Amino acid sequence: MCGIVGYVGPRQAADLVLDGLRRLEYRGYDSAGIVAFDPGGPLAVVKRAGKIAVLEEALKRSPLSGRVALGHTRWATHGRPSDGNAHPHLTEDGRVAIIHNGIIENYLPLRARLTAAGHTFASETDSEVLAHLIEEHDRGDLADAVRAALREVDGAFALVAARQDASELVAARATSPMVVGLGEGETFIASDVPALLPYTRRVVFLQDGDVATVRPEGVEVTDLDGRPREVTVETIDWDAEAAEKGGWPHYMIKEIYEQPAVLQNTFGGRFAEAGDDVLLDLDLDPTEFDRVVILAAGTASYAGLVGETLLERLARIPAEVEVASEFRYRHPVVNERTLAVAVSQSGETIDTLEALREAKRGGARTLGILNAKGSSIAREVDDVLYIHAGPEIGVASTKAYVAMVAAFALLAVRFGRARGTLSSDEGRAWISELRRTPGLLEEALERHEHVHPVAEALAEVRSVLYLGRGINVASAYEGALKLKEISYLHAEAYPTGEMKHGPIALIDADTPVVAVAPKGALQAKTISNLQEVRARDGRVYAIVSDNDSDTAAHADLTLRVPACRELLSPLVVAVPMQLLAYEVGLRLGRDVDQPRNLAKSVTVE
Ligand code: F6R
Repeated sequence: MCGIVGYVGPRQAADLVLDGLRRLEYRGYDSAGIVAFDPGGPLAVVKRAGKIAVLEEALKRSPLSGRVALGHTRWATHGRPSDGNAHPHLTEDGRVAIIHNGIIENYLPLRARLTAAGHTFASETDSEVLAHLIEEHDRGDLADAVRAALREVDGAFALVAARQDASELVAARATSPMVVGLGEGETFIASDVPALLPYTRRVVFLQDGDVATVRPEGVEVTDLDGRPREVTVETIDWDAEAAEKGGWPHYMIKEIYEQPAVLQNTFGGRFAEAGDDVLLDLDLDPTEFDRVVILAAGTASYAGLVGETLLERLARIPAEVEVASEFRYRHPVVNERTLAVAVSQSGETIDTLEALREAKRGGARTLGILNAKGSSIAREVDDVLYIHAGPEIGVASTKAYVAMVAAFALLAVRFGRARGTLSSDEGRAWISELRRTPGLLEEALERHEHVHPVAEALAEVRSVLYLGRGINVASAYEGALKLKEISYLHAEAYPTGEMKHGPIALIDADTPVVAVAPKGALQAKTISNLQEVRARDGRVYAIVSDNDSDTAAHADLTLRVPACRELLSPLVVAVPMQLLAYEVGLRLGRDVDQPRNLAKSVTVE
């Protein structure tokens, strides 16, 4: 949440920082701003409410020059989106500037104290206290001043500070992510890797409590007490094009179409040569646990719901998904025989990270199902299963969801084989089904245009009910979430059998049902439920398997998907659901890549 970019080096810093901000706009788009300067000269600032395009226009009128710059794209927490609340924040004398991501929990007492000491505040933000605190503690060395300021501050955040006469930037991290990019005679700082990809792949991930002094020749990292920390330089294997639109109108549609290739990557090299098991390169022993707790938020939690069923069915191990934001506050029961699986695209979602820490406190063994390397969760788990989805820039998750589901399928096969609940023949059969899935998603994508009539219909209503049974209850939740995020329509999801216990009251000619109903064990019951909808004038749009004309007969419109094992059908039905959300969003004129109020990588509680 909130994108941070900084640069020190020989080039015009504001141009590079602006480019980096564009690449991080998915982290927040309420306002944006840049400070640029040459050491010794004045700090010049341009900042505007609105998206980066607004800032860009302002910069055309008032260009910034200088070899040092820092910039920010904001997802508002304290203070509405406005020019004044936009970052960077400067002290009254214009000597110190900061950008900040996260929340300063004790900002009110700090602000009161600083105001009493004569500081004047220009914004309503919590962030601004940092600039004034750094000024107060400034005895000549900027990094010392930042360290002293941070000792007074509570919360989860990341910050970068500049001082008008200093040739370096000072960055600090307390939970929120930050990565330093090492170039040739130039150094970058950013809250996420995609900002750095066009410039360098050599990076240092900052850790909690790090204070980094960033100079053109490199980075020096200390802890909060000023003790130097040895850093590891890592190389990122994502290529720059992976984070570009590459001719597609939106990232979302590009990422939906990448899914067959993403599945190949998730599976890549992970099927055992004998074809009856999965190789995951994990230290954990699947026979040591008697329970799996899956910790995740949003779409990742729905992938977790699919995972829960897969683990129970294939490996006969009790599994449950816990909404990460609730988990740590409800005194959960976990112990050494619990495996806690944290699922996250960004690896930075604070709710998931804190839930993971709670599970660790209880003694659980931990595994991450993650996309971003070097992320906070990656560093804190015992083992990681990377999904290899590549950078996901569209704010609504698509390809990462499918890759997470695929990763759970791999895990379930591995656990089933290790725990003796899947025979070698069954393992072989599952793997051969998994190998088919990229092709099945390809076929589902070829039917993109079948979604149009359903999208036309949904664009006319205000509320939609998604229903699914068995493993596709999770699909219904995910389909409804995608629709509401992208189109701003009200969408709710229920297990199909639950409909008659209340939600059926919503059904009328203006509240249609999207039935996620690929062929499965409970098809006859699903058909009865669809009849109940139609008996009440409800329209039914059904996602059904190619080989199932019975269900199709009970729908007003159908979206057909290639047939596959019921337990793998969440992978296939994801495609029409995502395309539907996308097409409805387009028809309603929504910004599908950056839906209102949202941000990717949610680093505040
Ligand atoms: C929905 C969406 C969010 C994320 C959630 C978790 O489209 O993108 O619900 O899935 O914020 O994010 P990660 O996976 O980064 O932990």
